[in-house]
Amino acid sequence: MARTTVYVCAECGFKSAQWRGQCAGCESWNTLVEERLRPPSGEARRARPGVRAARKGWLGGSPAGSRPAGRVLALSEVGACAPQRMSTGIGELDRVLGGGLVPGSLVLLGGSPGIGKSTLTNMVLARLQRSGRRTLYVSGEESAQQVRLRAERLLLDDGSGTESARHALEVPVLAETDLDTVLEALAAETPDVCVVDSVQTLAAEELGGAAGSVGQVREVAARLMELAKRQDTAVVLVGHVTKEGALAGPRVLEHMVDCVLQFEGERERPYRELRALKNRFGSTNEAGLFEMRQGGLVEVLDASARFVAEATSAPGSVVLAAMEGSRPLLVEVQALVAPSELEHPRRVVSGLDRNRLALVLAILARHGGVRTGTADVFVNVVGGVRLEEPGCDLAVAIAVASAAGGIAPPHHPLACFGELGLTGELRWVGHPERRLQEAARHGLAEVIAPPGSGAGAREVATLREALAQALPRERPGDGAAPRTSGARLAA
Ligand code: TYD
Ligand code: MG
Repeated sequence: MARTTVYVCAECGFKSAQWRGQCAGCESWNTLVEERLRPPSGEARRARPGVRAARKGWLGGSPAGSRPAGRVLALSEVGACAPQRMSTGIGELDRVLGGGLVPGSLVLLGGSPGIGKSTLTNMVLARLQRSGRRTLYVSGEESAQQVRLRAERLLLDDGSGTESARHALEVPVLAETDLDTVLEALAAETPDVCVVDSVQTLAAEELGGAAGSVGQVREVAARLMELAKRQDTAVVLVGHVTKEGALAGPRVLEHMVDCVLQFEGERERPYRELRALKNRFGSTNEAGLFEMRQGGLVEVLDASARFVAEATSAPGSVVLAAMEGSRPLLVEVQALVAPSELEHPRRVVSGLDRNRLALVLAILARHGGVRTGTADVFVNVVGGVRLEEPGCDLAVAIAVASAAGGIAPPHHPLACFGELGLTGELRWVGHPERRLQEAARHGLAEVIAPPGSGAGAREVATLREALAQALPRERPGDGAAPRTSGARLAA
């Protein structure tokens, strides 16, 4: 039988008829990936997103089909044409997408198992179906019965009445793992939006690798993309993230797809955050916040109010006036400092970058007189929110100093923001006015902020001054050993 697949090195492109551990071309290990040999005709030629986008008229005002292929155009000759977006009916998701789903686009939705990817995509399809769009849900993981059970469960608490319940149960479902069968159904149904849950469960028969292998995942995505672009279907590929936090398998798709969304949060807690890691049709700064409830995911529209109300007045707690993309958000940062029995004390963070904590602890020790070298330090951003901005430094520093000294800020809840420089100075961060407005809106009168933040802020120039303002009763002195709050954690 004629060979239909070949092993290609992901590093150098070397081709081999058999799989080998080491590439004979560049000597890299474990880089050979099985790929389908492409037939010479145009039928199975891979879609080239840029070219196809232009042909679809996303990039060009004139019918691109009338242009000879390969003609170079000045940008001014290219008519502006904003992509038509489909609202998903879920405001937080629309915002992260940049205004809704773009027809013919490929979206990768990643997240760890159990985080709520199927719930979210089911809700989206039900709402799209309700608004008169054609949808298709391809489930490689669950049976059609299981999907129906979830849909019914989602409807119980939806409160949107029997009419919408009828629409939700009208979403066409295909429980299938064979790629060719899925492609046939997609071509027959020509939906506006198709969800493939998950990309790791589909497999192309002609490739030998198991479903979920790098070669299979790439092949599945490439062929779905080709068809989706041709018939203008927006495809959402659901992908599982490994324990290490990488989109294993799906990571290899990041360059192919138009948009990569990451759904995260802690399984034990109800808050879920949706972020765009890549977006060809919008910004990657936006984040959407949801809460997992009995009846599905609910958008958290005023997260600040909720987090401020939940903030404790105990030592180690401070409110950060953060920016989540274009939106201000007040979140509580908590710290615990406890004597360590370990040679290398623990540094545990949740919702923050670990290296950032190491930096803040070093600055605290050198410029704030708060030494934590012999203590375990735990820092948590409450609510499962992940902070990725330098403006969180000051909140972490104050929370740790407060926990180490066992002193609560007298003005509760105390809000702050600002980046720490290596010389202990407090640096300006973006959008101070919006952060201050948000704090004022939620009744936080006391906001410690860097110089230049404007009216309403208690401006301070250095970490030392900030600590003196935040924890005035007992300003930590140079060289003072940390007093701990006495809490001991079980090892
Ligand atoms: P699911 O969407 O299946 O996760 P994923 O597809 O990312 O693996 O949902 C995971 C969890 O959410 C599941 O353990 C139960 C919970 N859940 C609710 O709390 N409420 C609900 O309405 C639904 C549908 C699920
Ligand atoms: Mg699922």
